[in-house]
Amino acid sequence: MSEDPVVKTVNPVKIYQNGDVPVPAVRGVDLQVEAGEFVAVMGPSGSGKSTLVHMLGGLDQRTSGEIWISGKRADTLSESKWALLRRRGVGFVFQFFNLIGNMTVADNVELPALLAGASPREARQRREFLLGELGLAARADDPPARLAGGEQQRVALARALAHEPSLLLADEPTGNLDTRNTRDVLRLLSQVHKKGQTIIMVTHDHRAASCADRVISLLDGQIVDDAPIPAARRGPRRNAGDVIELRG
Ligand SMILES: Nc1ncnc2c1ncn2[C@@H]1O[C@H](COP(=O)(O)OP(=O)(O)O)[C@@H](O)[C@H]1O
Ligand SMILES: [Mg+2]
Repeated sequence: MSEDPVVKTVNPVKIYQNGDVPVPAVRGVDLQVEAGEFVAVMGPSGSGKSTLVHMLGGLDQRTSGEIWISGKRADTLSESKWALLRRRGVGFVFQFFNLIGNMTVADNVELPALLAGASPREARQRREFLLGELGLAARADDPPARLAGGEQQRVALARALAHEPSLLLADEPTGNLDTRNTRDVLRLLSQVHKKGQTIIMVTHDHRAASCADRVISLLDGQIVDDAPIPAARRGPRRNAGDVIELRG
């Protein structure tokens, strides 16, 4: 097994061009995430959180700097090589779940596993496990459009985990969910994390962030804080209405 960090960045910068006006979104976020870590990324709207995770998944090109995934230089990859890397090793959950409308829920979840080389039987078992954990077993044969928003988001999470990626990137995965759906999503994230899943999750929600081992705070495209969460304060509260203050 390799000792390389799952993610390592060296002074990555992303500057969007808004007409003639440069908009710096990420300004040198040096980051290292080890295998098995669960990192929450917080910060106000516009602080560069989405841009950062998009760059880590190859969905946005960096303007300068380096991105390394599991010891391999990734920022210089072509789009097709990035697609291959994502198919093998990176799962993505977005705030607005891009499910495939003309496939059943079951097929949406199995597809990434099949693309990554799982046998149909393995893909089906993995799908049954994930949908079961998320309380969605009964919806397997439905098209996504028949599901409520919270259910669709849980399907999107199952899909992102179907191929057992080395890295799960989640951009506000509970952003549109009510308390109960949020709790189901956080429970599955905590569970796969306990089994060793590396996770980087953008969130506004202190309760969601408290499931992580470590919280990185962004402001204006830079890290202003990077702190471990003490184990005693970690994990979703039983009373899901509580908000956990991360620091005193
Ligand atoms: N495609 C884009 N074109 C121009 N500016 C963008 C684009 N995407 C994001 N930005 C700008 O980059 C900054 C960071 O955005 P974003 O990464 O979405 O922040 P966050 O996810 O923290 O809300 C913001 O100022 C935003 O307006
Ligand atoms: Mg965002």
